[in-house]
Amino acid sequence: MEGFFHAESKIYSSFSCACVQCSVVQAAVSTARRQVSSLLHCAPSEVTFTSGGTESNNIVLQGYVRYCIDAYGHHCSQSACRRGTVLWSSVEHPSVHGVLDAVTHSRSLATCSSSSSPPPVSGGVLCCGCDCLVSPAELERMLVAHPDTFLVSVMHSNNEVGAVQDIKRLCAIAHAHGAAFHTDASQSVGKVPIDVATDYSVLSFSFLFHCFFYGEIGC
Ligand SMILES: Cc1ncc(COP(=O)(O)O)c(C=O)c1O
Repeated sequence: MEGFFHAESKIYSSFSCACVQCSVVQAAVSTARRQVSSLLHCAPSEVTFTSGGTESNNIVLQGYVRYCIDAYGHHCSQSACRRGTVLWSSVEHPSVHGVLDAVTHSRSLATCSSSSSPPPVSGGVLCCGCDCLVSPAELERMLVAHPDTFLVSVMHSNNEVGAVQDIKRLCAIAHAHGAAFHTDASQSVGKVPIDVATDYSVLSFSFLFHCFFYGEIGC
C-alpha cells in the first residue's frame, strides 16, 4: 500500500481523466488493489476502496437490502420468494447496527408501501454469550424462528474485547438456510490470517487500513 499512500498524499488529481498525473494515481490504485487481493486471497475485481469501515458497511448493507427488494420484491406479499428479515449480532459496531436499525424501520425502502404499511424489512438481534460470541445454536434458532431471513451480519473480531467469531461455521449455517452473510472484519485483517477464498464464502467483507500496517485514516 506504500505506493498508494505516496500517490494519495503527494498527487492531487482526478482519478478518471487522461493526464499524466492521473495515470500515476490509477497505477498506484491498481497496485494497491492487487496487493490487497493477494493479502485476502480474493480477485482484484472484488476489492473496493472506500473512506473507511463505516462507509464500507453502509454501502454493502444498504446496497444489498435495496438490491434484494428491487430484484426479488421481498417486500411484496405476492412474491414466491418472499424474504424479509435481516439478523445481526448484539455486539455489532454502530456502523452496522445503526444502518440495519434504519433499514428495518424504513417505510421508504419499498416503492409500493404506503405510510400505513409496515416496513418491508424486519430485523432480529442474535444474542451473544458472556464471551461476546454468537453460538452456532443461537444462529440456528433464530434462522428457524425467522425462515424468511435473507441476510445475516456478524462481526469478525470485536473492537472492544477482541473476541473472534467462528465466521466460517456461522456463514455455513446462514447459507444452509438460504441467507447471505456479511462480516465486518475491521479489526481482523492484518492481525489474524484471512483467506477469503478457502475460509469464507461471505457476500461481503469490510476492513480498514487505519487499524493496521500504518494505514492512513480514511482508507
Ligand atoms: C469493528 C469496527 N467496525 C467499523 C469501524 C468503523 O471504521 P471507520 O472508523 O473507518 O469508519 C470500526 C472502527 O474502528 C471498527 O472497529
